[in-house]
Amino acid sequence: MQKIISLSKRRGFIFPSSEIYGGFASCYDYGPLGVELKNNIKKQWWIFMVQENENIVGLDASILMSPKVWQASGHLTAGFADLLVECKKCHSRFRADYMEEGKFIGEGKTKEKNQCPLCGGKEFTKARQFNLMMKTFVGPVEDDASVSYLRAETCQGIYVNYKNVKDSMRLNIPFGIAQIGKAFRNEITPGNFIFRMREFEQMEMQFFVSPNNKEKIFNSWKEKRINWYLSLGIKKENLRFREHKKNELAHYAKRAVDIEYKFPWGWGEIEGIHDRGDWDLSNHSKYSGEDFNYIDPFSKKKFIPNIIETSAGVDRAFLALLCDSYQEIKGGRTKTTKSAKEAEIFLKLDKKIAPIKAAVLPLVKNNLEIVKKAREVYQALKPYFMCQYDKISSIGRRYRRQDEIGTPICLTIDFESLMHNDLTIRDRDTMKQERVKVKNLISYLREKLNEQS
Ligand code: GAP
Repeated sequence: MQKIISLSKRRGFIFPSSEIYGGFASCYDYGPLGVELKNNIKKQWWIFMVQENENIVGLDASILMSPKVWQASGHLTAGFADLLVECKKCHSRFRADYMEEGKFIGEGKTKEKNQCPLCGGKEFTKARQFNLMMKTFVGPVEDDASVSYLRAETCQGIYVNYKNVKDSMRLNIPFGIAQIGKAFRNEITPGNFIFRMREFEQMEMQFFVSPNNKEKIFNSWKEKRINWYLSLGIKKENLRFREHKKNELAHYAKRAVDIEYKFPWGWGEIEGIHDRGDWDLSNHSKYSGEDFNYIDPFSKKKFIPNIIETSAGVDRAFLALLCDSYQEIKGGRTKTTKSAKEAEIFLKLDKKIAPIKAAVLPLVKNNLEIVKKAREVYQALKPYFMCQYDKISSIGRRYRRQDEIGTPICLTIDFESLMHNDLTIRDRDTMKQERVKVKNLISYLREKLNEQS
């Protein structure tokens, strides 16, 4: 993990939040390459879930909602609380389920029995409920009437808009509503870099179904969702399903299956597929007075729609993709690395999500004609692909810098380019080089990168 964290900072993927003030626990900022990779992940999810499904539509609901939403959803009660214990010596607080009879186990970690991982203290308070909702005040007066909450899951914005979306888009069950957005939880024990944060992003889809055939739909979403991670290049052996036991189920869930990734510290959830039954619409109906009954146009049967949810974490997908694509080649791939001990880092990111699609590299920086031609190529490509222009240091070093950030294609403009109006294309994975005419470059790259728009 330390290598991933250091690469992330060094190459502009992820920075600790508020670093100049000593950081802000469990919050991170996505840097110039991080924001590209993150946007590409979200774009791929949107294509897979919304663009390719005629019965799924999108939504972007507000983060702040009426506090009544959270009363109805069960998040303000014990339903959305973790058990918390406190070390009696240093007063650090931990999730009780990470302590096994006082032993801190953390996520994938094992510490000495009965010891606080921070000060070594051996006594803890009794476990108590700690609600994870983040409270805030809306408006100029900070009193009970102005209390609101930052949303803890994006899907509640979907439920409260269920009727608006169904009626405005003339949808019949089964149909889905998809949304990407920030969520906030006052996690007791955040950690493992961007795996568990207090501010994070979710990609959620709520599929409204009849209670009669939902098991088949649940199983089909399970398969579709794991296939999405495979389609982004994650290795099969690093993914698995984990069905929740009855006593682990969240307050809203009738059934839950996690998709887990094998992180460097062990298996961790990256997405949950949940059968939420009629919990959400029934409760919102009860609290708001709105009738959410649905009448099937064929059978004329009346029912409250049930919900099959797919809930993925953008940040966890990001971390899984970084971990899965990270490779270190001792002695270097090109054998040009000076020291045989020096390892070359290589991110084998799928072309669809790589932050930079092509790097434009003039072979030398002190030949005006080569530089001019390289600038022309860069200007011509920039409206179509996320490109980088780099003229600093030797060509070998520049290839290595691009390998390190996962750029699939490098384009080198050399002396021959001036005579033949062509350039060298270097493939990141095979390191094979071929020459292509500048006039054919855009269609060549489109094909090679398999661009969707
Ligand atoms: N609407 C259902 C729901 O929110 P969840 O299992 O609590 O279900 C879904 O969360 C996904 O959101 C998780 O699989 C994970 O990817 C992401 N997630 C949850 N808590 C997170 C946190 N503290 N930091 C980063 N990602 C988180």
